[in-house]
Amino acid sequence: MLPLLSIRGLSKTYPGRPPVRALKGVDLDLRPGAVLALLGPNGAGKTTLIRVLSGLLRPDAGIIRLGSTTLNHVRARDLRSIAVVPEGDRTLWLRFTGYENVRFYLALLGHRLDKRILDYFLDRFQLGNDIHRLVDHYSRGMRQKLSIMIALLTRAPLLILDEPTLGLDPTIRTELQAMIENRFDLATSILLATHDLTFVQRVATEVGILNSGNLLLQKPIADLRALGHFRRYHIVATANGPEPIPSSLQHFARCSVSRAGSQITIHLEASNHGDFEMIVAALHSSGNIITDVHSELPDLESVYHRIVANRQEEVSGSFPP
Ligand SMILES: Nc1ncnc2c1ncn2[C@@H]1O[C@H](COP(=O)(O)OP(=O)(O)OP(=O)(O)O)[C@@H](O)[C@H]1O
Ligand SMILES: [Mg+2]
Repeated sequence: MLPLLSIRGLSKTYPGRPPVRALKGVDLDLRPGAVLALLGPNGAGKTTLIRVLSGLLRPDAGIIRLGSTTLNHVRARDLRSIAVVPEGDRTLWLRFTGYENVRFYLALLGHRLDKRILDYFLDRFQLGNDIHRLVDHYSRGMRQKLSIMIALLTRAPLLILDEPTLGLDPTIRTELQAMIENRFDLATSILLATHDLTFVQRVATEVGILNSGNLLLQKPIADLRALGHFRRYHIVATANGPEPIPSSLQHFARCSVSRAGSQITIHLEASNHGDFEMIVAALHSSGNIITDVHSELPDLESVYHRIVANRQEEVSGSFPP
């Protein structure tokens, strides 16, 4: 299937002393219907990438393919296909009402306001009672919802959200999560930049990790969790011998041992089953009775930290890409 958005070799350096190389030849693909979450530490280049895709910044090099159209940079007319909700509420007119903001942006982008769809979203976003109030009097969550609603009313096939959950209360965050999972009931594909890994684990179909202007990887979320080639093991044993915690356990990295009364609990992160078997054998030969064992794939947060922290090892090959 042809990607909806395809980026190749995208580079951007901000001038200055010294200049900042914010994007260093980034390749990225967004398939129709996908929710691609862009992760990365502060300053990784996520917002810069989004500003390039919003037409606010011209890249120094690279191409952007929108469906079958190839662009060197995004122009105003391309914003009929790309709806962007930037970080915060910087694009809203505070002295306009919500409704005036809706009309302003749709007129600016050359879209007709479909009252039926507006009513549908007002109901969905629970903004019906506030749409004729000044945006200056809105809470942060209401502004965020209004910005997303305006973006959706453009019916652009690609929706880009920069840090959409920032400052949202848990109720609105959960609402937003459900709406993204359902693609807002539209045929929308979504690119979002965020630090909210729990949110990503819920809504994203794919994850891209940027670090210092380089895209470290882009993977379906399910593949990413298996990527670290390690599992988390949990072992519970009942102490039943003179030396219940074998001294050999201290030789295992990423192994933590705790004891409460006669219960010993061990957490292990290991990339091979052998470490786990050796620990079980050591516990056994110390006379302990093993009462519970289970293992699981790591969550997204552990994988993220490993990938970002192991950047050097990854480059030199010891961390499998
Ligand atoms: N207008 C600018 N002028 C100069 N440098 C900039 C400008 N905007 C961003 N940068 C620099 O570009 C790099 C990438 O910044 P960017 O805002 O894209 O990161 P980010 O991944 O969005 O970070 P965060 O997670 O903090 O939002 C950083 O080193 C930043 O200092
Ligand atoms: Mg940012």
